[in-house]
Amino acid sequence: MKLLHLSDLHIVPPGHTLFGADPSNHLASCVDDINRHHTDAALCVITGDLTHDGDEAAYRQLAELLRPLRVPVRLLLGNHDHRETFRQVFPDMPVDARGFVQSVHEIGDTALVFLDTLTAGTHEGRLCAARLQWLDDRLAALAGRNVHLFSHHPAMEIGLDSMDWLRLREGPQLLDLLRRHGNVRHVFSGHVHRPSAGTWHGMAFSTVRGTHHQHALDLALQGPATTVMEPPGYAVVLVRESGTVVHFHDFLDASPRYPYVKGADRPVSVGMA
Ligand SMILES: [Fe+2]
Repeated sequence: MKLLHLSDLHIVPPGHTLFGADPSNHLASCVDDINRHHTDAALCVITGDLTHDGDEAAYRQLAELLRPLRVPVRLLLGNHDHRETFRQVFPDMPVDARGFVQSVHEIGDTALVFLDTLTAGTHEGRLCAARLQWLDDRLAALAGRNVHLFSHHPAMEIGLDSMDWLRLREGPQLLDLLRRHGNVRHVFSGHVHRPSAGTWHGMAFSTVRGTHHQHALDLALQGPATTVMEPPGYAVVLVRESGTVVHFHDFLDASPRYPYVKGADRPVSVGMA
């Protein structure tokens, strides 16, 4: 099964720009890339910061941009989003009984669990007691299944102090819960605007670039993150019985390609006639 992981679109209303460019143009290019290469994906998961300021015009712009996407999509919320406005524009996106934008999507033996870590007034991630209880109940119901967990805020530190201080505050509680159930295979997050992967207390995790701007890989920086217009990207996730593979793809990269040609596999001297 193939999944697509996008994050941090930061869409602004039509006519506006962000860091010198229009996030809508980047997302349109991303949708085009997916439609050309990955229409066989079972689901496209976008892990929050759908908009930059949570305004209705930006959500409506997002709805227009996603209309041509030929893969089903699931939208999560990030710290730049506004839950009520999102729900007005996307009334069909699943929510839990309390109105948090979190849900479960089952595909064969795999269960995808989507968390809502947004709390108004803070940029850090939060999981209140009600949301943790919801997750506890869902993981209990999914005993024995391969669970892939998605959230905007990562619970783990990735060594980037400029973003780690805004990670999920309830990381210890989440870890305790995941260990107790033991059925989460991989944790996917956004928020950090960087591709990273590794393990967190024995569980695999990955984060992904934003589709617009990124955060610089400055491991010494203590203050707020530096924004850098590195190439945007998304992840192509292959879920197999033997395990899960995450490919990071920079969809605007225009590096030259050299398809294999039989007999031409010797080193070529650049610049020689
Ligand atoms: Fe973001």
